Amino acid sequence: MNETLERWSSRRAFILAVTGAAVGLGNIWRFPYMTGENGGAAFLLLYVVFVVLLGLPVMIAEILIGRAGRRSPMRSLGHLARQAGASPHWRWLGLFGVITVFFILSFYSVVSGWSIEYLVESVNGDFAGMAPQAVGANFNAFLADPLRMTFNHTLFMLLTMSVVAAGISGGLEKLNNLLMPLLYLLLIVLAGYATTTDGFGTAMAWLFTPDLAALSVSVMLNAMGHAFFTLAVGACALMAYGAYMPDDQSLPRAVGAVAVLDVAVALLSGIAIFSVVFSQGLDPGEGPGLMFVTLPIAFAELPGGSLWLGVFFLLLLLATWTSSINLAEPMVATLQGWGLKRGRAAACVGVAVWAVGLLSVFSFSSMAEVHWLGDMNFFDLVTTVPTDLFLPIGGLLIAIFAAWVMPRDTAELALGTGPAGFRSWQRLVRFVSIPLVVGVLVSGIW
Ligand code: PFF
Ligand code: NA
Repeated sequence: MNETLERWSSRRAFILAVTGAAVGLGNIWRFPYMTGENGGAAFLLLYVVFVVLLGLPVMIAEILIGRAGRRSPMRSLGHLARQAGASPHWRWLGLFGVITVFFILSFYSVVSGWSIEYLVESVNGDFAGMAPQAVGANFNAFLADPLRMTFNHTLFMLLTMSVVAAGISGGLEKLNNLLMPLLYLLLIVLAGYATTTDGFGTAMAWLFTPDLAALSVSVMLNAMGHAFFTLAVGACALMAYGAYMPDDQSLPRAVGAVAVLDVAVALLSGIAIFSVVFSQGLDPGEGPGLMFVTLPIAFAELPGGSLWLGVFFLLLLLATWTSSINLAEPMVATLQGWGLKRGRAAACVGVAVWAVGLLSVFSFSSMAEVHWLGDMNFFDLVTTVPTDLFLPIGGLLIAIFAAWVMPRDTAELALGTGPAGFRSWQRLVRFVSIPLVVGVLVSGIW
């Protein structure tokens, strides 16, 4: 299989695709509830440190491999390993990524389905004048209804796989480019409104004054997993995108801005959500429902709240759509590499992921007490293990491959910064990122 000649139509198109992959549920849904469950500021601090020292350098490593290989992740890894005289078994790292994105997409689709439900309910005006307690009850009633959840999950899978099958995600990236600034603006307005609430001061103190005594191994593990998740790193999903990166572009410059934007979106969302939490006396450790029981309350205080809540969920849906397309890409590319047509490959992936997603749907009703590992039901399991373990392990192997195994001139060319930039990146990955992941993983597994 020869290298692909396909390229993103412009440098900008590549950056848009990576932004589309990065900004999604991880920022607006997962970041606040993980911060809440892990005690606030200590988690946030670690997460930012991990984004800088791990997420960003490994993101560069991952895209660099795809760009140098110019094939599907498995084939790029195999080809570059051969070129370096290393073991061809490196290609299985691509398959490990496929397994990771499979499980992540299975719950990602279910939770994106919650946004569809909330979009419809907001447009219906269901939240208008609803008391804060009723907002929580409304969410619980929805979770207890597997039929409605399945409907939304199915719809979201269809949306995702139809774009993936047609290979027209470029159009969606452009639409996203047009509309995402509105999502950021809405978050800024919400955060601005948050400053006027009673809970704002408490929320800021809780988010930004780290209590180092609160640092534990599990907080570290969660923060590291989240840093990878939010940047879409560690599953070879961005590697697949790197294969189409134009030749004349500096990789660090292209992705640095994406990481800054990604963290900014998470912070705005956290400020908005925790101000509501502390104003209303809600529990920060509420869990995965946190966003869905706080944002309707916040929007209700704004003029035209129901309408803006609807717009918000519509935009969130667009953001998650481009992320789920990225999650599907390594699976579809791998099946295509095995000789399947793109449409068929997308259908197979869609059906399989959808079916496993049903286990997450039922985790809120009939299967709530079915424990798969320890006391975790299926949803608990797929929202933690693939993110907190598989992504860092995948990221570690990606980093080792790019910084130790790949021939230096190939890697340097793919980074696109010249020798000095290459040396700094390589040193950072070799002596900071790699030891850091190993350290956190090892102490976590103890
Ligand atoms: N980065 C996405 C988000 O923050 O919602 C999620 C994600 C996409 C994770 C792609 C992993 C991945 F490979
Ligand atoms: Na993200």
